[in-house]
Amino acid sequence: MKFALISAIAIFLFSCGGSDDTGWATEDMLVEPSPYAAGEKVYLSNCASCHQKTGEGLEGAFPPLAQSDYLLADKKRAIQIAANGMDGPITVNGVDYDAMMASQGLSNEDVKEVVNYVLNSWGNEGGEVTIADVEAALSE
Ligand code: HEC
Repeated sequence: MKFALISAIAIFLFSCGGSDDTGWATEDMLVEPSPYAAGEKVYLSNCASCHQKTGEGLEGAFPPLAQSDYLLADKKRAIQIAANGMDGPITVNGVDYDAMMASQGLSNEDVKEVVNYVLNSWGNEGGEVTIADVEAALSE
């Protein structure tokens, strides 16, 4: 709710900025709120303890999400892992892991937000998923 209000104010200021001469709201003075702020919050509370704030993980124990070839290869799989966890052997950026990640018990909405955050943080350019993508991936 707060976020929506801040966005609305930002959009309002943005649309005023630059074209008038009031001098107090120009486009480059405004910091746009991150579209991934909600996902960042979910990440910091549910994922960062293992995958780290930087997304780099801990080699040998927790695989990285930053620039992870495994994460970026398959959005549907990313949704399923964020929702259900995973186990079994995997190779991420050439390093083998064979551990277990428990389900973090997130709502579908939080899964969507956190997946979009990790797909678009730390230099990742992984695109976005919608709530419909989440529902489809989890109904399989
Ligand atoms: C308790 C530690 C822990 C937490 C918390 C955790 N993970 Fe994981 N995660 C792991 C481990 C360990 C693996 C590797 C599992 C394996 O070897 O099969 C993994 C694997 C992954 C992978 C696939 C491998 C990769 O690096 O691309 C993704 C994506 C992922 N986690 C995302 C998340 C997200 C998103 C959250 C928060 C909702 C999260 N994890 C929370 C420990 C954790």
